[in-house]
Amino acid sequence: MARAPKNDLPMMSTEEGIVLFHPHIPKKAKEYVCDTLDSRWIGQGPKVDLFEARFRAQFHQPGPCISTGSGTDALHLAYLLAGIKAGDEVLVPLFTCTATNIPLLYIGAKPKFVDVDPRTLNLSVEDLKRKISDRSRAIVCVHYGGLPCDMAEIRSLADQYGIPIIEDAAHALGATYAGKPLGAISEFTMYSFQAIKHLTTGDGGLVTFLDESLAPLARRLRWFGIDRTDKQKGIWENDITEVGYKYQMTDIGAAIGLAGLEEFDETLAYRRALYRRYVENLNHVSDVRIVDDFDPRKEHAAWLFTILVEARMDCQLKLRSRRIESAQTHFRNDRYTVFGCNETFPAMDSIDDRYLVLPLHTRMSLEQVDGICEVLREGW
Ligand SMILES: Cc1ncc(COP(=O)(O)O)c(C=O)c1O
Repeated sequence: MARAPKNDLPMMSTEEGIVLFHPHIPKKAKEYVCDTLDSRWIGQGPKVDLFEARFRAQFHQPGPCISTGSGTDALHLAYLLAGIKAGDEVLVPLFTCTATNIPLLYIGAKPKFVDVDPRTLNLSVEDLKRKISDRSRAIVCVHYGGLPCDMAEIRSLADQYGIPIIEDAAHALGATYAGKPLGAISEFTMYSFQAIKHLTTGDGGLVTFLDESLAPLARRLRWFGIDRTDKQKGIWENDITEVGYKYQMTDIGAAIGLAGLEEFDETLAYRRALYRRYVENLNHVSDVRIVDDFDPRKEHAAWLFTILVEARMDCQLKLRSRRIESAQTHFRNDRYTVFGCNETFPAMDSIDDRYLVLPLHTRMSLEQVDGICEVLREGW
């Protein structure tokens, strides 16, 4: 099993300097939450329906949008809707938040890790080609940091083997690929609205899919296997024929989400401006490699700005001495005993002690990006 690179820098507070993440609380959030608290519904009610409808329209999602209590819930639902069963082999990214792969273990499926593409930290299409086989039941991909994966190549492999793609777009709300919004490309797409995402509901998520006929099943699985609409009509003959979960979003969360939707374009534009500023500043710094392939088919959602550096800990200490927080954020999943993986991943090995995430959020200014880049230019 791969060992964790040692890193014991504690988290900073906003007062101490430039933190790595900060939640974006939309201007209308408090008002909408207070309205909700004064209403009859604080659990799953009309605001959840409104949030789903507005989300679908705003992000041009061709299929039904089913909101959930977290992105992890949404992924679990996506895997169930894709028909993944105990023992099924599923091709998954090695480098991602554990939340991508843990729900496969709920089902008893077998994640088969695909090595990383060191230019993007997305899954490597070359390694996917090596690992895909007649045993593969689905492909899961993560748009790391908000940069879309190589969807044309992944689509063509999935079609060749007749298996679905599940996109984990937790980082990538607002990203596009070949002019299409995420959610319009693959059988299943999941989003996260956890605290520090572009759009937050406190904690929350959403799954969308191209096959409209799956919507009733998705809604039942989200709620114990019960048809809520029938139940609310007072019909108690509702049978439960499949195991469902309690994965709903609440109206309190949806109220924050509705406020976030109203200013999403502005939030995304600002995050992209910060990202571009990093790129302009660091493009020609020889000790820094930007994690991005600048593929013109891909429009980045700018959730993370990640670089590759040598002597990463020294770099972090130098940044920290100027009150700038940085971290790895995500880790290779073969490190976790729970996955029981004994394979080797040469590309991941080559960047494991080099990748570093820099601050990017709506509480920081373009000038602060310049300042961070200046520290990096000085060297460490
Ligand atoms: C790539 C990725 N997938 C899934 C998730 C899980 O989302 P959530 O925290 O909303 O459950 C996260 C983390 O937030 C993530 O970074």
